[in-house]
Amino acid sequence: MPNWQPNIITFLCNWCTYGAADLAGVSRLEYPPYIKIIRVPCSGRISPKFILGAFREGADGVWISGCHPGDCHYIEGNYYARRKFALMKNLLEHMGLEPGRLHFSWISSAEGPKFADVAWDVCRSVEALGPSAKMVRQRAAQISQNQIL
Ligand code: FES
Repeated sequence: MPNWQPNIITFLCNWCTYGAADLAGVSRLEYPPYIKIIRVPCSGRISPKFILGAFREGADGVWISGCHPGDCHYIEGNYYARRKFALMKNLLEHMGLEPGRLHFSWISSAEGPKFADVAWDVCRSVEALGPSAKMVRQRAAQISQNQIL
């Protein structure tokens, strides 16, 4: 598909991966310009509604990144995030979204190069899948029109 660039919504923990994104920028490391970063206080703050909402509104991919296990500023927020992520991955697959559209990582604020590498990996994965079929929105519209019982 010529000239198509994926729309990737990225939720980054303020204390670690957001710092890594900043470090990557300050270090002049190149990473994809089409990831849209949303800073959150902790990866544990990410509600499944944020992920569903992003896909419903047309995201081609969602990437969540937080502090390494044991480094969460709120003690165990990233463990909650990991559990929610595993459930969401299964749910979205069940709903027909390809698993390569949802990504999760641990990146500390000192890992600018890792941030850039993972950002490219996420983008390549989503690019390979092409534009999202926006299945969530379509199913909701069909249900509201009583086309699906
Ligand atoms: Fe970074 Fe909790 S503070 S994941």
